[in-house]
Amino acid sequence: MHSLHVDLGDRSYPILIGSGLLKDPGYFEESVRGKQVLVVTNETIAPLYLEMVLAALNGFAKVDTVLLPDGEAFKTLDTVNRVFDTLLEKRHDRSTTIIALGGGVIGDMSGFAAACYQRGVDFVQVPTTLLSQVDSSVGGKTGVNHPLGKNMIGAFYQPQLVLIDIDTLTTLPDRELSAGIAEVIKYGMICDAPFFEWLESNMDALLARDPEALAYAIQRSCADKAAVVAEDERESGRRAILNFGHTFGHAIEAVQGYGNWLHGEAVAAGMVMAAELSKLRGWISAQDVDRLRALLSKAELPQQSPADMAVDDYLQAMSVDKKVQDGKLRLVLLHALGSAQIVADTPKEQLIEVLRTCGAR
Ligand code: NAD
Ligand code: GLY
Repeated sequence: MHSLHVDLGDRSYPILIGSGLLKDPGYFEESVRGKQVLVVTNETIAPLYLEMVLAALNGFAKVDTVLLPDGEAFKTLDTVNRVFDTLLEKRHDRSTTIIALGGGVIGDMSGFAAACYQRGVDFVQVPTTLLSQVDSSVGGKTGVNHPLGKNMIGAFYQPQLVLIDIDTLTTLPDRELSAGIAEVIKYGMICDAPFFEWLESNMDALLARDPEALAYAIQRSCADKAAVVAEDERESGRRAILNFGHTFGHAIEAVQGYGNWLHGEAVAAGMVMAAELSKLRGWISAQDVDRLRALLSKAELPQQSPADMAVDDYLQAMSVDKKVQDGKLRLVLLHALGSAQIVADTPKEQLIEVLRTCGAR
């Protein structure tokens, strides 16, 4: 078992990464402070892992569960309301702990419910997709989508514990594994060039789900993310680099209809757009962009815009991005491979040129 620490003063917490962790009651017992627990999961994950988690919680907490519908399209306030309904119907008090068992959709909604219920209750993340293990379970961003914008309603709310059992990845569909790899590649691009090189050498092992390779990639990604979050918890500056490729990616997700392109797939295409823009500014080389494309291609991730999206679709969707300030679009670009910067002065013509290069109509 590997342990990391997210250093946020009195909101600090551990990230535990290993095999067989869900079967061990000890990890839950240490982090559940009250006597009530609500496990939030969905109808896909419940048959696979709920029983294991209930067995681990058995004996020291009164446990209720709520099964939400599966999918990004259900990441809404209406669905979160079902969590509140259960908490109230089952008389959960302020000492309750919400356990999120699932991918980023379950984690983001459960965390938001935990932030709001009685103005804040304890919260444990048990991420079961690669994407949620390397990104969404760490750092305290929680929330839901709005038809007009991705993740537009939410709160910063840190968990008490992130418990990553890599055994859960054995049941993950290939397409979801690739989507998670997109966020792993992101860390190499924005802040960790040696990790990018490691990925170039080890992508086959990751795709083959080699446990050692997966555990290393998860540890390294979480360590990179934890360092950025510790520096800027509420994204007043540097944390925005974690959104590399996301401004374009969120536009793809929103315009395509939530769930049609997976988040990681949209981020992959978005990272190519951001890399092309960085190249156009004379910062990174054509060879750097080719290396990104080659890695994405190996991981079977998209590098182009959906064919039915027009430049105007992007411009409109991107105008409601959370990084927009005073009407100005801010994008994360690369000064070098492994070094990202937030820029607010992208000329519109360059943006349009890159969108066209990447296949937008
Ligand atoms: P997801 O939660 O939709 O999970 C993907 C699919 O895999 C779902 O159908 C799920 O039921 C299924 N699944 C989950 N675990 C499984 C397992 N072990 N075996 C088999 N099937 C399993 O998607 P995701 O990629 O985990 O998360 C995407 C979401 O995360 C998006 O909403 C995105 O906005 C959000 N996100 C949030 C942050 C953050 O900082 N909070 C960061 C990145 C992404
Ligand atoms: N996924 C972006 C962030 O956590 O800031």
